[in-house]
Amino acid sequence: MYCVRKVTDDLYWVGANDHRLHLFENIHPIPKGVSYNSYVLMDEKTVLFDTVDWSVCREFIENVKHVLDGRDLDYMVINHMEPDHGASVEEVLMHFPNVKIISTERSFMIMRQFGFNVDGREIEVKEGDTMKFGKHEILFVEAPMVHWPEAMVSFDTTNGVLFAADAFGTFGALDGKLFADEVNFDRDWLDDARRYYTNIVGKYGTFVQDLLKKAGTIDIKMICPLHGPVWREDLGYLIEKYDKWSRYEPEEEGVLIVYASMYGNTEHAAQALASKLCERGMTNVHVYDVSNTHVSTLISETFRFSHIVLASVTYNLEIYPIMYNYLHEMKLLNVQNRTVALMENGSWAPTSGGLMAEFLDEEMKLMDVLGTDMSISSALKETDEKDLDSLADAIIDSMKKEK
Ligand code: FEO
Repeated sequence: MYCVRKVTDDLYWVGANDHRLHLFENIHPIPKGVSYNSYVLMDEKTVLFDTVDWSVCREFIENVKHVLDGRDLDYMVINHMEPDHGASVEEVLMHFPNVKIISTERSFMIMRQFGFNVDGREIEVKEGDTMKFGKHEILFVEAPMVHWPEAMVSFDTTNGVLFAADAFGTFGALDGKLFADEVNFDRDWLDDARRYYTNIVGKYGTFVQDLLKKAGTIDIKMICPLHGPVWREDLGYLIEKYDKWSRYEPEEEGVLIVYASMYGNTEHAAQALASKLCERGMTNVHVYDVSNTHVSTLISETFRFSHIVLASVTYNLEIYPIMYNYLHEMKLLNVQNRTVALMENGSWAPTSGGLMAEFLDEEMKLMDVLGTDMSISSALKETDEKDLDSLADAIIDSMKKEK
């Protein structure tokens, strides 16, 4: 049985949802699942935009055949060849042997790397090329590193539909609700959208900025991404988020406190600081235990807030390993332009504060480390309160300076 939805008069969503996969890319937890979006355009020629992950290929093929209703598939546009979208290319070729594939040179190279026999079916396109399929004309726009080097987006100049590849996607299965205006996106989807963007595409902010600049030159009416809801209203909401995230600008003034604690003492210090901040009127404070929060959530929250407090116990004279992993992920994903305060703890030779400061200074960009770093000997005591107050004051003062 098919499961499709109409997007416009002659465009259909033929993708599939996946609640069985626990880890996207075998790294990122997806408790709300994920959708693999694919679209069929029914014009004088029939055109498929991208395929799906292998795990949902069977229902995808059924969906495509249902929409085609006996017609042959003439063209398949591949905007992105990562296997969560490109894995079913060969299966499409098997079912529709006459189909021609439209994609970039690099994409065809990757298809061959995966062992797909695409010989004789390739139509190679590059930046600015157009193709007409009847009423609809599609403009092809290269989008390298959003999120692989071969990526492109396709724009229907006839009705303003943008097939956006990984851009503007989100984790989360659609569960019937195809359009962003059918859900409460800000309440129910934004956290997953941010976690998707920051962890999957976050490293490539400058490339996303390039794509946003190109997008600014075309009249987009609808965004059809490869994951998550289709946007047909309030496109500016999502474009603004992408603009902020890709410029590494915080979404909110607020404090993210991430602590690494072995026996609860560093945790207590983190909580005491949170209270001090709230007492001073800054209540947008969010506290996470680095040991039981997945790093993809920490990265997402790091992109969200203006201020970060790293509170780490010293472990074998080093930064606590899980805290180090979080720092390393921040570096890999190009996190920058944040104000950071540090708290260290240690029962003998505390070193984690200095080492974290060194990492932020030497390995990362534009991280403003506040100079009132706090060192705790084993457990927070009343004699530490002055330092804790100074740290809270320094955070609040830096917020005032930024205004
Ligand atoms: Fe959803 Fe880069 O693949």
